Amino acid sequence: MSAPIDQFEIFAVAPPGLDHVLLAEIRDLKFASVTAIPGGISFKGGWADIWRANLELRGATRILMRIGSFMAFHLAQLDKRAMKFPWGETLPIGLALKVEVTCTGSKIYHDKAAAQRIENALISAGYAISAKADVSLKVRIDDNRVTLSLDTSGDSLHKRGHKQAVGKAPMRETLASLFLRQAGFDGSEPVFDPMCGSGTFPIEAAEMAHKLQPGRTRGFAFEHLAGFDADAFEAMRRPAAIAKIPAQFYGSDRDAGAIRMARANAERAGLDDLCTFQNHSFTEARPPSGPPGCPSGGPPGGLPGLVITNPPYGGRIGNKHMLHGLYAGLGDTLRRHFPGWRAAIITSEPSLAKSTGLPFKAKSAPVPHGGLKIRLFQTDPL
Ligand SMILES: C[S@@+](CC[C@H](N)C(=O)[O-])C[C@H]1O[C@@H](n2cnc3c(N)ncnc32)[C@H](O)[C@@H]1O
Repeated sequence: MSAPIDQFEIFAVAPPGLDHVLLAEIRDLKFASVTAIPGGISFKGGWADIWRANLELRGATRILMRIGSFMAFHLAQLDKRAMKFPWGETLPIGLALKVEVTCTGSKIYHDKAAAQRIENALISAGYAISAKADVSLKVRIDDNRVTLSLDTSGDSLHKRGHKQAVGKAPMRETLASLFLRQAGFDGSEPVFDPMCGSGTFPIEAAEMAHKLQPGRTRGFAFEHLAGFDADAFEAMRRPAAIAKIPAQFYGSDRDAGAIRMARANAERAGLDDLCTFQNHSFTEARPPSGPPGCPSGGPPGGLPGLVITNPPYGGRIGNKHMLHGLYAGLGDTLRRHFPGWRAAIITSEPSLAKSTGLPFKAKSAPVPHGGLKIRLFQTDPL
C-alpha cells in the first residue's frame, strides 16, 4: 500500500450566486492555490488547513476533502474502479462511513445502486459502513465522472453552535455573512436591521467585526477520524475575545418573541454587550447615536453605517400585495431618518425592492434560499 498523502485538494461548498464572495473570504484568510470551480472554491492544504477552514470560514456551507475521481460509464465499471481505488491513501483503515451518492447527467443514474457498489469496495478495503456514522463519503457522479469527497464538517456550517433560537424565516448565518461582505461591510461601521427576526445580521456583523471564529463552539466530523490531534485543534480554537471597537450592532422587530430570541442568541454568542435589540415597528427605527449599548431612537448624529435587512417576502410569510406598502414604508423611513447610511435589502421579488423607491445599484446574482431565489439590492450612502 502507498504511504498516506498529507496535502489534498480542499473544496469549500459555496451558496450558488455568492461563490465570488466566498472566494474573496478564502483569499483573505490566506489559504493556498485558491480557485473558483462550479459549486464552490477549491484550495490546497493539509489537515490543519481543513480544521482552520471549518473553524474560520463564515460563508462556506461545508468543507470537503477531495479524495479522488475517475470516469465510470456503467455500474460494472464503477464496481471495478472503486475496488481498485487507493482508499487507504487518505482514509484511515477501519473508519466507519456513510455513503451519499448523487447522479446528474450520467449513464449511471441510480443513486442507490451506485452507493452499493462503492460500499462493497469500501468494505473489502477494510472500512465499516453505517447509516449512523459521524463521517460521510460524498460521491458525485456528474457527466460520467465519479468524484469522491470526505465531508469534514458534519452539520452544515451555518449551524454556528451558539445560535439556537430561530424565528419564522431565519436567514442562514453563512448567507448573512456573505451578504454583509457583498454589501461592503468590513467590520468598522454600525449595522442596523430594522426587521431583525432572531438577530442573524447584527450578531453575524458583530462576530465579523470582532474576528471571532464562527465554529468556536461547535463540533465537526473530522474530530471523529482516527489520528485526529485534539490538542493541536484546541490550540487553534480561540475563545471569544471582544476587542474595544466603536462599531455597534442593532436590531429591531415588531415581534416581541423574535426580539427575545435575538437577545438570547446574542447572549449565547457572548455578544450581548455589543448587540442592542428593541421591540418596535421599523417605522420607529432611528440611527443609534451613542456608545455601544445606546438604544436606537436617540438624536441622529452617530457614525453612519449599513442598514441590512430581509423583510418578509411573498413566498414565505405574508401576502405579496400587502407587502408593497411595507416596502414603500421601509424606503420612506430609511430616506428620512438614515441619511448617509447605505441600505442593503434582501428579497425574492425585484418589484418589492422597487416599491421602496430607494436608488439601488446594479442587481446582484440570485441565491436559492428556502425554495425561492433571493438577491441583494444595495444603495450608495443615502
Ligand atoms: C424574513 S423575517 C427576518 C428574519 C431574520 N433576518 C432572521 O434571520 O431571523 C422578517 C421579519 O420582519 C418582521 N416584520 C414584519 N413587519 C414588520 C414591521 N412593520 N416592523 C418591524 N418588523 C417587521 C417580522 O416579525 C420578521 O421577524
